[in-house]
Amino acid sequence: MKLFVDTGDIEEVKKAASWGVIDGVTTNPTLIAKSGKGFKETVLAICDAVPGGDISAEVVATDYDTMLKEALEVSSWHEQVVVKVPLIEPGISLVKTLADKGIRTNVTLVFTVGQALLAAKAGATYISNFVGRVDDLTLDGMEAVRDTVNMVETYGYSSEVLVASVRHPLHVLEAIKAGGHVATMPLKVIEALFKHPLTDSGLERFLSDWNKAGLSIG
Ligand code: G3P
Repeated sequence: MKLFVDTGDIEEVKKAASWGVIDGVTTNPTLIAKSGKGFKETVLAICDAVPGGDISAEVVATDYDTMLKEALEVSSWHEQVVVKVPLIEPGISLVKTLADKGIRTNVTLVFTVGQALLAAKAGATYISNFVGRVDDLTLDGMEAVRDTVNMVETYGYSSEVLVASVRHPLHVLEAIKAGGHVATMPLKVIEALFKHPLTDSGLERFLSDWNKAGLSIG
């Protein structure tokens, strides 16, 4: 599974990148606004922090012509940039146009397998199925992920299912069980993946016994 960090904060990106297990970064207009910095400077800094990683940068227009102009602009910034496009009618047309030009896309705000089918048929590189926002409605957000993975594999679409709106490590476990190709999540969720009390207590015991024996390496 590819692991992306979902943030516009370059310091968070640098921390996640330091572990050597991050495959990319997803941003969105809200995350960029929170960064307090310019869009292009933030995206370029993220590209530098995650060499070779796919960096999603979202268009903000909602009409085809302006979306296309924005998409060509952001994709020109860096070869790592993946154009993020909301699943609206002009957005699907844009994804098709960009796919025909060899420009990679991440279709976002996807909540149903029907929406995912449109994205896959348009040639989306990534399909971002949102989970947490559906769970917030006391519904099973992971259901559409399972159905989308099944759909992509059944019909042989090239799109990768990107599990998004991830709130906690259990979402990561469920995304793995669903066969999601990518999971994107806030830094705090990745940090939580490291944690287990038995790991902490086990290491404490190892080091205590080692030190009591007066041992050293070298
Ligand atoms: O950035 C896409 C998605 O991961 C955002 O999720 O629901 O935490 O805003 P959310």
